[in-house]
Amino acid sequence: MPDEISAEDAQNTDKQAENEGQATEGAALTFHVVTLFPEMIELYCRTSIIGRGIKAGRLAVKSYSPRDFALDKYRKVDDTPYGGGAGMVLKPEPMFACVESIKRPPQSPVLLMTPQGRPFDQSLAAQLSAETDITFICGHYEGFDDRIRSLATMEVSLGDYVLTGGELPALTIIDAVGRLIPGVLGKMVSLAHESFNDGLLEGPQYTKPAEFRGMVVPEVLRSGDHQAVDRWRRERALEETFRNRPDLLEKAPLSKTDKEFLAKLKKQL
Ligand code: ADE
Repeated sequence: MPDEISAEDAQNTDKQAENEGQATEGAALTFHVVTLFPEMIELYCRTSIIGRGIKAGRLAVKSYSPRDFALDKYRKVDDTPYGGGAGMVLKPEPMFACVESIKRPPQSPVLLMTPQGRPFDQSLAAQLSAETDITFICGHYEGFDDRIRSLATMEVSLGDYVLTGGELPALTIIDAVGRLIPGVLGKMVSLAHESFNDGLLEGPQYTKPAEFRGMVVPEVLRSGDHQAVDRWRRERALEETFRNRPDLLEKAPLSKTDKEFLAKLKKQL
């Protein structure tokens, strides 16, 4: 039986969503997570924006433990590696039985979280947000039997480092994909200017007060001139990207004005 985070659980932890009284309807996207540590997934998904998406009925998260599918009375899910060596390796039988028990559309993606996989980025998040069901297989301990790879339609990595398991990568993807589902974020407009949405890093934002400890909010943001504000924001995004992630500028769609601004910026260096 999968453990499902109920809308009720989510409700208990998010007063803001309660206040907004969003309608409950069939979830647009269900995440299925195969993990030896369901409580890690459940705890995170009860809170934050994802909890609110569940409460709103837009998202569902179900976790499944391979341990429930172990064949022996000790519920053993790992064993020593063939050929010798240190550590234990996740066995294929409980993992296969667990993944095969999941009720999901047969063509839906099955993501295996591994450092060898395709690097996760915003464009993959956008692609995944069009799915109705996404299954994650989280490895753990020292490794998994290589035959488990055949269960996956895609291997995904969070970055060039090794974590102790796939749960944090799965949660990261749930978070990045879940927030793209309409109705999960309060205001869809908040997606419009954020980092990576247009291939650039986001520029600075400010709120009141206009001056704090001698640090002053740029005059243009207080001018009420929307065109000037848009131009300022675009230039700050270009500048931030140029300084911190110049590689992103190679792929970002840039206008003639953007290119002229960047040329000026380079000359200033
Ligand atoms: N499992 C362990 N390390 C990982 C990483 N960097 N990305 C995805 N899954 C992992």
